[in-house]
Amino acid sequence: MLSNVVSSQIKLHSEYGGVVPELAVREHLKNLQPVVEGALTEARITTRELDAVAATQGPGLPAALMVGLKAAEAMAFVLEKPFLGINHHEAHLYSPWIWGEPLRAHFEKFQPNVSIIVSGGHTLLVYVEAELKHRVLGSTIDDAAGECFDKVAKLIGLPYPGGPQMDRLAEHGDAKRFDFPRPKLRDADDDFSFSGLKTSVRYFLREHASLLENPQAIRDLCASVQAAIVEVLVAKTMRAADRLGVRCVTASGGVTANRTLRRELANACERSGLVLRIAEQTLCTDNAAMIGILAERKLIHGIPPTGLDADIAPGLALA
Ligand code: KG4
Ligand code: ZN
Repeated sequence: MLSNVVSSQIKLHSEYGGVVPELAVREHLKNLQPVVEGALTEARITTRELDAVAATQGPGLPAALMVGLKAAEAMAFVLEKPFLGINHHEAHLYSPWIWGEPLRAHFEKFQPNVSIIVSGGHTLLVYVEAELKHRVLGSTIDDAAGECFDKVAKLIGLPYPGGPQMDRLAEHGDAKRFDFPRPKLRDADDDFSFSGLKTSVRYFLREHASLLENPQAIRDLCASVQAAIVEVLVAKTMRAADRLGVRCVTASGGVTANRTLRRELANACERSGLVLRIAEQTLCTDNAAMIGILAERKLIHGIPPTGLDADIAPGLALA
């Protein structure tokens, strides 16, 4: 991995309490060229030295995907290089395999795993049987885990994105003080549901609004909600790993930056004697490195490039 340049829009969107698509697109248009140039400069290579160009094809916000995909296709056309349209979630499956100094993908250490992808938009549990061979086990039937963090944080009055704020406040909170539901914890399937948890926090705060005036109560509330989310994520991941007989669990997505989730996953894997690979903090969130690494893998495995007229796939599902 020669470079990984990320242009974050979090500050911009936080003023509006969430992602504003129109703004996101304008920012992408403005930032795309400097980011590409920055990545090439940092990698000390010229465009002529590239083997291929890759970009996310989906899923995602249509207009935002369009900017990246069409720019990458144009670049591939001009450079006469192959183009690869990549599934964003499939790329997440491989970000936990990137580590070291300098960072590189360690496919020589690859082993079958159960992978959990937890972000603001998605909660996915995937069985990765072999390189480039996977099967989705389950996903959220309503809100994603990160969305739950963000919505609960909003109810508490914390700025967007709420996940990191809740993580920080929960550090000095009592996770046992308030008892919130653990949705689908005991269900045999591999799906998740988080909107009921958010709703129960809403009702709880309606009854106990004065708690929000007390800083310690807020910390306890954050810790208690966080504990509910983390317990469900960890338990269902471990159960799937056990059922499928894999010896490895991997995790990625913005929510895997959460320190309690990282710790609880580590504890659970240690108890079960499983190898745990969580994406490095800098690669938990969306990044181009995982897109490039997967594209390279596909080329190595002889998977044909994507046509230069390929369209975005906003609703692209992981099989
Ligand atoms: O993967 P990501 O950067 O973007 C997408 O959603 O695609 O994930 C962002 C999500 C947000 O919901 C944010 O609140 C959550 O990840 N998040 C966290 C933490 N850091 C980011 N949630 C809990 N604890 C954190 N430390
Ligand atoms: Zn993502």
